[in-house]
Amino acid sequence: MKTNFIQKVAIGCSVLLLFFVSTTQAQTYAENGMVVSDNVIASQVGVDILKKGGNAIDAAVATAFALEVTHPEAGNIGGGGFIVYLNSEGEVTTFDFREKAPLAASPTMFLDENGKIKNNSNHQGLLAVGVPGTVAGLYQAHQKYGKLPWADLVKPSVELAKEGFTMSYGLYNAAVRMTDRDPSEDIMKNYFRGENGQIVKPGETWKQPALAKTLKEIQKHGRDGFYKGWVAQEIEDYMKANGGIITKEDLEKYEAVEREPVKGTFNGYDIYSMPPPSSGGVALIEMMNLMEEANISEVEFNSTAYVHLVAEAMRRAFADRAEFLGDPDFNLDMPLDRLLSKEFAKTRFENLDMTKASISDPAQFGHPYGGDNTTHFSVVDKDGNAISLTYTLENSYGVKMGSSKLGFIFNNEMGDFNPVPGETTTTGQIGSDPNLVAPEKRMLSSMTPTIVAKDGKPYLVIGSPGGRTIINTVFQTVLNVLAYDMRIDRAIEAMKIHHQWLPDRILYEVNLLSPDTREALEKMGHSLTPTTNIGVLMGITYDASKKLYTGASDSSSEDGGARGY
Ligand code: DON
Repeated sequence: MKTNFIQKVAIGCSVLLLFFVSTTQAQTYAENGMVVSDNVIASQVGVDILKKGGNAIDAAVATAFALEVTHPEAGNIGGGGFIVYLNSEGEVTTFDFREKAPLAASPTMFLDENGKIKNNSNHQGLLAVGVPGTVAGLYQAHQKYGKLPWADLVKPSVELAKEGFTMSYGLYNAAVRMTDRDPSEDIMKNYFRGENGQIVKPGETWKQPALAKTLKEIQKHGRDGFYKGWVAQEIEDYMKANGGIITKEDLEKYEAVEREPVKGTFNGYDIYSMPPPSSGGVALIEMMNLMEEANISEVEFNSTAYVHLVAEAMRRAFADRAEFLGDPDFNLDMPLDRLLSKEFAKTRFENLDMTKASISDPAQFGHPYGGDNTTHFSVVDKDGNAISLTYTLENSYGVKMGSSKLGFIFNNEMGDFNPVPGETTTTGQIGSDPNLVAPEKRMLSSMTPTIVAKDGKPYLVIGSPGGRTIINTVFQTVLNVLAYDMRIDRAIEAMKIHHQWLPDRILYEVNLLSPDTREALEKMGHSLTPTTNIGVLMGITYDASKKLYTGASDSSSEDGGARGY
């Protein structure tokens, strides 16, 4: 939680800098490379790969598999996500391994005879599962840009799953919560139990033999170890037996895609982020353009004017997101150039009144906000290659179902499609066309893995979980670093707000807006709702003059941390 921050800085200040790798609790410094993730064991797996001569791609692949083992709430092989990659030449590319709707999917697949969503089926049960993309995405990125052999990158995770690792308090709390759920959520009943049948306690070793076998298959056969052979057969059998529709054909046909990043600028910095099917990059760049237009650095951080301007930018970007964005392979006419342009930012603020909140017209679009159940990590290597990777199962532990023979959990990403064609509500459900279900279509995402570069070198590598709040969390953190000169740990911990067009309200982190500011905003017509925490950021900055990486993990991540060398 953010309230631990001052305490952490105090502890941090008392720790001496040791050699060239050092941590102050709040920040970690390294000269040669760094990984910051939601789990320190996984961060260390990535750094070990860097030390063995691997590049940022190699370290990212190893870290992603390690998070499946150590952070199964969101680390995954049963879900999907995105990579943004800046290489040492200053070139940027992205990998899209977002899940796809199965071949048997349709726009009305979640509806009952009255046109209402049936039993929450877009989030619960196996109809909610999208065809997983993670293994294909990691494999493709490695084939193209990796240096070390694939098998060496999966090996640490096979070992972690087989030999086990020490159960943390954070994971144990989740284990207790997840074990006593709906009995139909099969895998969760035994997932966290040891050989004695009890939930593995903090300090004890948690082993995952079934997952170790699945990972071994992926280690041996790469992409095919997941999408073909006995793993694919077991996925199909499990789906058939439990009401799912994903088949071996779906798995065989799944492909990750390398895509051009979206690019924007802010006061001389280059911002690279994820294009559709994520809405994150487009919305981020639209809002950064609006902030440049508003000359935000002159506006006092956390003041009434700041919150008003930032919330109004969010309101507009989220309306555009809902209206225009979806899978680019199905929406060939998205006006991306317009949304990303500086000219558009000028027109988008034309009706901004600095004394009054705008109104979110319920006839327009919007989207509900999500939780924290995605995971982001940032990686840099000694040559200046950088990776920003966010991947997810959608909800915490995804659909909470999976074959015990395979040992991993499936996503419930189908819930990111617009569930009821044509129905858009003030509470935030959208029914617009670009994001309706279709066979092999990718559902719209908010994940916003981002790299800011200066003169072709990484300047900031950043991302976060949090559903729709991801976009705004990353946006404010980028702003904190670029416009307000905050160091990375402070930028991560600083107050965040969230507005998403509909519902028309500002969420703010509790205790972080003064009563005076709240009153002033309410007088302007804003509706304010406190929330405990927004975002779980994992970031790295690079100081080119000192040749020094500085990393920080959000204090709301219980097991997260930066590791470097
Ligand atoms: O792709 C997305 O935008 C969401 N599936 C992310 C979900 C998330 O961050 C956690 N949320 N509920």
